[in-house]
Amino acid sequence: MSADIVNTPSYNIKNALVIYASPRSNGATRAMLNAFLSGIPGNVSVKTVDVYALNPSPCVACNRCETDFSDKPLCAYNDLDEFFEDFERSGLVIIATPAYNASFPAPLKALFDRFQRYYSAYFALGRIQPLKSHRNAVLLVSAGHDGKYALEVMTHQCESSFSVMNTTLTGCVLAADTDLHEISDSVISEATALAQKVSKEVF
Ligand SMILES: Cc1cc2nc3c(=O)[nH]c(=O)nc-3n(C[C@H](O)[C@H](O)[C@H](O)COP(=O)(O)O)c2cc1C
Repeated sequence: MSADIVNTPSYNIKNALVIYASPRSNGATRAMLNAFLSGIPGNVSVKTVDVYALNPSPCVACNRCETDFSDKPLCAYNDLDEFFEDFERSGLVIIATPAYNASFPAPLKALFDRFQRYYSAYFALGRIQPLKSHRNAVLLVSAGHDGKYALEVMTHQCESSFSVMNTTLTGCVLAADTDLHEISDSVISEATALAQKVSKEVF
């Protein structure tokens, strides 16, 4: 089941948020991200959140987010308050991540579990949509091997979470076999082209 998109235009939100989920600052994931960012217009403000540095507390299923909603979701932790404000302000969210065990690295999985507040607001508290403006999202995945199944799993996780977050996953790029060779020029071009296409839609 998915929530309706709140029909507030996002084209005037010139903020992009990068969720960077590799522990390596200069590996394959960074190369893909750099290629993507080279296609973003210069007047867009881009903020990068390093998820390993952010180190989100895992959701502990306390169900506090199911109990009430005033102006924002309730949560046992406040470590992601600034992150959620940045998320809300962004017209485009870029998730750049390696594949770990056919899924997200642990800190990014913890972040996704903390999106539970939106699920609770929508399904437990009566169709509340805390995210008033719509945003698009893209997924950039680097994988040491084939990576197709990992991309499928991650895409499913994004679509499931985003269905109650006024957020639409609009594109993805996979850089496969990064443990065997450098990212190909065609993947670099694909990432840049996706940024140009999505930017036209969003900004
Ligand atoms: C803990 C761990 C688990 C991994 N699991 C997978 C996997 O399931 N599938 C895969 O294709 N590559 C896997 N890899 C390889 C990484 O996805 C690959 O090296 C990636 O490009 C690393 O990105 P980086 O250079 O930005 O760190 C794994 C690597 C690590 C360290």
